[in-house]
Amino acid sequence: MIKIISKAHSLRGEITVPGDKSISHRAVMIGGISEGTTEITGFLDAADPISTLSCYRAMGIDSEFVNGKLRIHGKGVNGLRQPAHILDAGNSGTTMRLISGILAGQKFPSSITGDQYLVKRPMKRIIEPLTKMGAKISSTEKFTAPLSFSPAGKLSAIDYELPIASAQVKSALLFAGLYAEGITRVIESEQSRDHTERMLNLKSETLNGKNVVSIEGGMKLTSREFIVPGDPSSAAFFVVAGLINDNSEIIIRNVGLNPTRTGYLNVLEQMGGKIRRENERTVSGEPIGDVVIKSSELQTDLVLRGNIIPNIIDEIPILSVAAVHASGKFEVRDAHDLRNKETDRIAAICHNLRLMGVEVEEYDDGFAFESKKKLFASEFDSFDDHRIAMSFGIASLVLDGESKIEHAECVNISYPTFWETLQGIFKN
Ligand code: S3P
Repeated sequence: MIKIISKAHSLRGEITVPGDKSISHRAVMIGGISEGTTEITGFLDAADPISTLSCYRAMGIDSEFVNGKLRIHGKGVNGLRQPAHILDAGNSGTTMRLISGILAGQKFPSSITGDQYLVKRPMKRIIEPLTKMGAKISSTEKFTAPLSFSPAGKLSAIDYELPIASAQVKSALLFAGLYAEGITRVIESEQSRDHTERMLNLKSETLNGKNVVSIEGGMKLTSREFIVPGDPSSAAFFVVAGLINDNSEIIIRNVGLNPTRTGYLNVLEQMGGKIRRENERTVSGEPIGDVVIKSSELQTDLVLRGNIIPNIIDEIPILSVAAVHASGKFEVRDAHDLRNKETDRIAAICHNLRLMGVEVEEYDDGFAFESKKKLFASEFDSFDDHRIAMSFGIASLVLDGESKIEHAECVNISYPTFWETLQGIFKN
């Protein structure tokens, strides 16, 4: 599908965004290995979390939607059964990496694969530490999927310091830790999103400036209710849309405000963005609230690097769009892992910015540009990556003329109603 987008004269309205993708995956994974029925309110019914759900179904976990809530009939930590076929994680890196931690501890063999993009993404980052715990995993020579797991008996707990900041790797190891003898500790020098530790109620402490999360093997999980907040990474598209369009005011209700995810709001505030957080509260262990955004004159002269990168990793595409409409220089460094996402996002951002007429310098670990006054409507390539499609959909709103987004249906991965929501607040 090609989406045609013309210039907006104003964006106005009150919206909610779909449930948090990271939390939705984890709620299914934790629910399925808990004793009893877990009820999930606000589950993100989009392709990625559905991949997690279908992997679990293939391992004997029944689930159904009742009045819009997802019920997972958990069978306990040792209740999964051998799947009859290879598991399919689709496009979802989170499904593959997190479930690997669980598969590593099972008494049955299993294999998992994914779509043409996922089978190219690096899996060594989980294979290596899980193997240290005693897991038996085989992969391609390049350490990519398909991955196969053979029963390894009880795993052994390890202390593992993450070489790259990754909540996916941290979570895979914490899940594997459930099946290990002793206490598994994951140490990170840069804080990544902390949903797994919040949802499992794990001990998390700062030692020598590093974040240490511990899990005890054999821990019993009992069913509970999860209320999933709106995904801050999905809200980010509308936050930037409200800031860069004239005469705009957007209210986003019930969105996640977990500090490990809201670095993008701080960056946009630093750029002069008029953003107000209201009704801040904690729901189901996660900070949430409403966000009010008004048209703003943005200035940049920012270098984003170091500790903030894991916090804003999924928002770098849309932050780049905001920076194009700001005065000053914008630079992103230390973000090499962006090249390993659903597509090479550094290359994708640079490609689409150049189509608009921005002169971008590309580095191995980032990019830099100075915004230009004259920008062009273009035919943007989504590279089949949901966040690239949505970012350049938002960029198109402030370009004179008609822009096109190719393969715009890829928003189904995390935000199936994105184009309709945009249409709903679009004023000609
Ligand atoms: C995710 C963690 C991030 C993020 C991804 C979801 C998660 O990946 O990019 O969209 O749910 O844990 P990394 O932890 O590998 O950076």
